[in-house]
Amino acid sequence: MEQATKELNNQVHYGLEGVVAGDTAISKVDGKVGKLLIRGIPLEDFAPVYRFEEAASLVLWDQASWLRPEELAVARCLPKETLRLLEAAAEKKVSAMDGLRMGISTLVPTGQDVEDIRSLISKAASIAGTFLALSEGRVVPSAAFEEEGHAAFFLHLLQGKRPTNAEVRALETYWNTVMDHGFNNSTFTARMVVSTGSDLVSAVTAAIGSLKGPLHGGAPGPALQLIEEVQERGDAEGVIRERLERGERLMGFGHRQYKVRDPRAEVLQRAVGLLAEGRRDPLYETSVEVERIAVRLLEEFKPGRGLHANVEFYTSLLLRQLNIPSYGFSAVFACSRVVGWLGHALEQRSAGRLIRPDCRYVGREG
Ligand code: ACO
Repeated sequence: MEQATKELNNQVHYGLEGVVAGDTAISKVDGKVGKLLIRGIPLEDFAPVYRFEEAASLVLWDQASWLRPEELAVARCLPKETLRLLEAAAEKKVSAMDGLRMGISTLVPTGQDVEDIRSLISKAASIAGTFLALSEGRVVPSAAFEEEGHAAFFLHLLQGKRPTNAEVRALETYWNTVMDHGFNNSTFTARMVVSTGSDLVSAVTAAIGSLKGPLHGGAPGPALQLIEEVQERGDAEGVIRERLERGERLMGFGHRQYKVRDPRAEVLQRAVGLLAEGRRDPLYETSVEVERIAVRLLEEFKPGRGLHANVEFYTSLLLRQLNIPSYGFSAVFACSRVVGWLGHALEQRSAGRLIRPDCRYVGREG
């Protein structure tokens, strides 16, 4: 064991690529065939049909009915000081991820896992929804707090009116789809934090910082810009080629683990179609064309890298259809991924091992 550790230490694994850093029983990501299992269930079997609360229970405790809607509902109200901070942050026009991070960091951990988990999941949506409503210059609707389900609550908070069943279904499908995904950067961040013995509020605050980055959860806004630019100019080949010639990355394409199409893109593409309810959506048609041409040009510019649409590509379209402003996309993502962070935090706690990698010193020796 000691010898194996020493050998591993002599090799540097930049970006920790290919390094197995722990065990998880929550999600299985098979990047070769493009398959994602959550607690053994294929993504496409549960994401479009489970309620958010059921999917969250599955991720957290491997059962579909532990977390009841009313348990999340009672934890929705924000402390006055959190609300005041959000009002000031919205007035200063800070980014939605900064607003969410600031809001979450005002919460005080109770040390009771179940209570902290309910509070963090529930309040992440309260904070993100309130911040976005304030940023859009809307009054926070108190009637939203009467909604039974978590997704309906969030949409009501954001849109100022009761959402339709189709809108609730679309958001739940999206949230279920992005709830967990192996040791992604933000999840690993959460695990790092709790491995020191720290608390769940700190873990979620740190994970939000990780998710903010454009290479992780910050991609759907720029992905939508690409689709809209193509629609405006009507020349997908030209727009995409120009970007690749400038050496830019196409947001919404490529993945560290999937070298085929991300299975989450498939589920979300269907959800976008269902939400349109048979109506023709020119932006959807443009997206399908952008994906087809982007995959061909990515293979031309970056042969053999296996660059395909990732989860963020159709996310951008779905969230736009729900009238969520693009600057809020990453914060809406966080409202679901918080469940995965917490599930992994619990797992990491039971593993009980401090995460502390080694590094190779390349500086001066005196
Ligand atoms: N557009 C153009 N080229 C790309 C793209 C892209 N989207 N993604 C990767 N490449 C190229 C790189 O330039 C690199 O080329 P090189 O070999 O000539 O240097 C090669 O493909 C491999 O790229 P890496 O950065 O080594 O691949 P990695 O596995 O680290 O990257 C990542 C994964 C960060 C997601 C990358 O594909 C990317 O930047 N995509 C765009 C951002 C994005 O959509 N992020 C959301 C990911 S999903 C999520 O986190 C929820």
